[in-house]
Formats: sequence, C-alpha cells, structure tokens
Amino acid sequence: MTTMEHRAAHQAFRRRWKKTDDGLCRHSMSFHLHNTLRKEFFASYLYLLEQIPLVQLFAVTCEYIKGEKQFYARAQNFYKDVEASEEGMMGGFIEISEIDLEGSRQFLKKFVGGPGKAGTKCALDCGCGIGRVAKNVLLPVFETLEMADMIEDFLIHAHECYLGSDADRIESYYCYNLQDLTPPPKKYDVIWMQWVACHLTDNDLMKFLIRCKASLRPNGIIVIKDNMARQGCKLDPIDSSLIRHLDIVKAIILKAGLEILGVEKQQGFPEQIVPVWMIAMK
Ligand SMILES: C[S@@+](CC[C@H](N)C(=O)[O-])C[C@H]1O[C@@H](n2cnc3c(N)ncnc32)[C@H](O)[C@@H]1O
Repeated sequence: MTTMEHRAAHQAFRRRWKKTDDGLCRHSMSFHLHNTLRKEFFASYLYLLEQIPLVQLFAVTCEYIKGEKQFYARAQNFYKDVEASEEGMMGGFIEISEIDLEGSRQFLKKFVGGPGKAGTKCALDCGCGIGRVAKNVLLPVFETLEMADMIEDFLIHAHECYLGSDADRIESYYCYNLQDLTPPPKKYDVIWMQWVACHLTDNDLMKFLIRCKASLRPNGIIVIKDNMARQGCKLDPIDSSLIRHLDIVKAIILKAGLEILGVEKQQGFPEQIVPVWMIAMK
C-alpha cells in the first residue's frame, strides 16, 4: 500500500468513527475497531497504530488505571500465580517441551560458531522464567549467560534450584519488565526471546528490539521464538498475550531496523497447537 492509500484509508476510518467517544473506545468498540483495522491493514498495522488516535485508545494495549498500564498489569497478575516449574513455563503443554528445545538447539546451531557467525561468549535469555531455555539450549553453548524476567520467584528458583551447578555461569539476573529494560551495550552474542515477545505491545516490542540491537556484540543475533497466528492477530485477555501473524512480527522487526537472517517453523507440534516460529535477526 502506498502512503497515499494509507492516508485515504486512515481518513475513511476517521470519518466513519468520528462520533465514537472516548468511553466507547476504551471498551468494546475499540476492540471491534482494532480487530477490523488489523484484518484490513494487517501488514501496515504499526503505521496505523501510530497514526490513528482511536487505535491508541485501544482498551487492551493502551488502557491505564491509576497510572498502570492494564495490558502489563494483567500479565503480572497472571504470572504471579504460575508455578515455578517446567509445567508452569509450558502453560500445561509440558509434553512438547523436549521437541521445542531440540528445535531451538538445531536453529541456534545455524547462526552460532564459525566465521562470520555469532560468538559463544555470552547470551541473554529474555522472559527466561525458571530458565528452561537457558539450561537446555543456551548454557551448553555459551560460556556465560544473563537472564531477565519480571517475576522474581522464577529467577530465584532458577538460581537456587533449577539450574543446579550451572547457576555459577549466570553473570546477572535482571528482575525487570522487558518494556523497561535496557540491556548493557555490546555485550551479547545471542539474545533469546521465547514466548515473551507476545507479552509486549507492538510499540514496546519494537523499542525493545532497538535496545537489544545496541547490546549485541559483532555478529551477534536476536532470536524470537513465539506463537504466531494463522491469520491477523489474536489477544488472550487473561495473560495479556498477543498472538500475531508472522508478517506482523516481521513488520515490527524491520521497523526496529533489524535484518531478518532466518525464519523457521517449529516442527513436530500437534496440529491443534498454535504454530510456533523462530526468527533470527541482526
Ligand atoms: C510462557 S513463559 C516462557 C518462559 C521461557 N521463555 C520458556 O520458554 O520456558 C513467559 C515468561 O515471560 C515472562 N514475562 C511476561 N511478560 C513479561 C514482561 N513484560 N517482561 C519480562 N518478563 C515477562 C513471564 O514472567 C514468564 O516467565
């Protein structure tokens, strides 16, 4: 779509929804509008998000109560009751954990070690939970690791129990919301984000990726592994996760100024599970 076409579509929607007041927007109407916009313009969604005031009011990603963004408050509330265990991290799908980890190990291999590839000195596991990925995918490859998650209990469990003696190779634990985290500059060969990009709004994900890019060492890469919608974008209001179509995630990545190096679908998951994709970028 050209910029002119964007503008025309933008104006058409503004006219159509002119009478919609703020209250309505914050509730069901904005959800309906948001879905309509996503369906109609899905690849150019970010552009619309930034341009149309109505969309910025979208209840689920933009609503504040007492200064707190409800999209993130809901996720906090959800994860504080999740058990610090592999079952908890897998949301009840523990049976696919091993296939998932093997898929990740194989994907990582393609981009790490060897000339022109990422080094093996240090990696950052974002939204690490108890360290399921850290222990089984990253620690066997990297000399040291850093881990970031918003739930302190998960990090404590990782350090005191789950990682065992490998916990000695964790340089730092960051108990942070990723939307507020600025990782140290030029530090990591790999930044891994699994099942957590879905917990950031489009805009926060884009900004976080920009900060991650600045914290990569030469030849360093970022990997996003996440659920991807078969169509458009779906929201789970319980844990505040956005399942986006691969094209939407790619649009966010490109908007963050990153180059996509490889994209692969996780194989071997049951058909009824939402497809999971891995994207490597630099
Ligand atoms: C489904 S679990 C996945 C854990 C781990 N990546 C894995 O694959 O086993 C999602 C994790 O993301 C964390 N998380 C969710 N939203 C977050 C945010 N905004 N900032 C930091 N961590 C977040 C949760 O606390 C939880 O540990």
